[in-house]
Amino acid sequence: MCGIIAGISNPIAPILLEGLKRVEYRGYDSVGIATVSDGKILMKKDVGRIEALEAKYAVSTMPGSVGIAHTRWATHGGVTTANAHPHLSCDESIAVVHNGIIENYLELRSTLAKRGHVFRSETDTEVIAHLIEQASKRERDPLQATLKALKRVKGQYAVVVMFAHHPDLLIGARNDAPLVVGLGKREFFLASDVLAFISRTDRAVFLENMDVACISPRGLKVYNMQGKEVKRKVTQLAWELADVSKQDFAHYTLKEIHEQPETVQRAMLQDPRKLEAFASAIRNAGTVLLTASGSSFHAALLLKGRLNREAKVRCDAVLAGEFDHQAHFVDKDTVMIAFSQSGETADVLEAVKRGREAGARILAVVNAVGSTLARESDSVLLLNCGPEVGVAATKSFTAQVMVGNMIADAVLGRRTVGDPKKLAGQVEETLESEATIKDVALRFRDRPDFYFIARGPHYPVAQEGALKLKELSYIHAEGIPASELKHGTLALIEKGTPVVVIARSGDGFDAIISNATELKARGAEIIGVSDVEHPVFSYRVPIPSCNESVSPVLEVIPLQLLAYHMAVSRSNDPDYPRNLAKSVTVR
Ligand code: F6R
Repeated sequence: MCGIIAGISNPIAPILLEGLKRVEYRGYDSVGIATVSDGKILMKKDVGRIEALEAKYAVSTMPGSVGIAHTRWATHGGVTTANAHPHLSCDESIAVVHNGIIENYLELRSTLAKRGHVFRSETDTEVIAHLIEQASKRERDPLQATLKALKRVKGQYAVVVMFAHHPDLLIGARNDAPLVVGLGKREFFLASDVLAFISRTDRAVFLENMDVACISPRGLKVYNMQGKEVKRKVTQLAWELADVSKQDFAHYTLKEIHEQPETVQRAMLQDPRKLEAFASAIRNAGTVLLTASGSSFHAALLLKGRLNREAKVRCDAVLAGEFDHQAHFVDKDTVMIAFSQSGETADVLEAVKRGREAGARILAVVNAVGSTLARESDSVLLLNCGPEVGVAATKSFTAQVMVGNMIADAVLGRRTVGDPKKLAGQVEETLESEATIKDVALRFRDRPDFYFIARGPHYPVAQEGALKLKELSYIHAEGIPASELKHGTLALIEKGTPVVVIARSGDGFDAIISNATELKARGAEIIGVSDVEHPVFSYRVPIPSCNESVSPVLEVIPLQLLAYHMAVSRSNDPDYPRNLAKSVTVR
């Protein structure tokens, strides 16, 4: 969703532009930047890409050592230049960028309009600039005026405010949306994501909800909403700069798919004591509830399967966004495990909040260190897969599967996941099928529908394959259990319909081959993802034979590559799929 980067350094504009480019993976439709120079706010904004804004206005040469910048993903108000951030007060002395949603903005807007404020956009954000302007009429101190304004705001926000009359100050505040401070050498930043400033500093302060941070050339001070100073710890970030470049790959998504031999091993670097803490919480729980959204939910489903099947644990999995409707049984005997790459998905955070209110113990499997989910959980296992820039989850999904496997193994008191090096070798071998997958993509790129079928423990992989294809290629796709075909979906199969069949040898192989045969008899083209050859396959994407618990990792990689190559063959940008954002921070 929206990205914020703001900072103090001289000159600030080129740093803000670089920061914007690093957060553009979050998804956006318009972009803007403002600096303070000679007691005035200078601002440039437009719909479209950062490069276009740069080319149109030469923004990198904007003067000033204090600035704010933003990538917008429209929620309130269409995609227009006026709606792009920053937003200004009437007298143009206050500029604001914001992520989140101001729930009472209509009410605030009408009150402010009655007091003579003139609005230039349709956004909820603009009310913040006018509220601070209104408060400044009685309160000259910018911190006090901002606090007064924010007390009237209901909703979620990460907001950064810049003042023409206080040209060395930036104020940031957060409530249920991420905001991080970067502490550099005589330079300071406020951003929605550490990636925005990681090329300048690896020292960060993750703000807590309702924190208000003031940065100036003198440093950082953090206050609570009552204006009392509070102390926050400095985190040393471990992510390397190299991790956020594309290296020699055409896209981040492809690079991240190819990083998986390394990242599955890193996912297995878990502290045995923490794993045991998870396992003992699960063993002693009345009920275990897994929750997540999107791809992370598919990884959670794989863990649910193993806990049910192998450990006989009473376990359910509920989509985070459906929590209110399907999780009324959660109580103090429940252990909730939330899966999230970003740790900032609004639905997941809300589900966890509800679970906490009902007395549940909260455990989390997260990639982003310092994220809200990581901080708000009782215990955390990290994915260790480094920053994932491509919007589609790839390496984070396989890392989640491996961490889920380690949790299940810890509950069972045995090891099924095997040797990390061996798994890495199997992942390498799977990636060698890329040329075959490229051929499949070219052959089927114009088909309107795709189906993915699997049985039992492999079904979440079919769901994940369909999700990847939808989001990257914009082709309609469904992942269904093969057992459900005859209950409806078979009616959609006609000559040439591509069906990806996940057919690992062993239990269930004969049954899935029989489903594939029925599909073929109705004209389907069968693309088998399998460790063995079979005549029913029109195309076979080979995967190595392996243990059942790690099989989903090897099965999903060809599906990630298929989605990627379909996207490229249809001239889509796989890193930035239309309408989607990497971190879904609004509900
Ligand atoms: C799919 C995808 C999304 C995310 C979902 C949850 O490729 O990326 O479906 O999986 O938005 O995000 P996290 O894991 O950050 O909570």
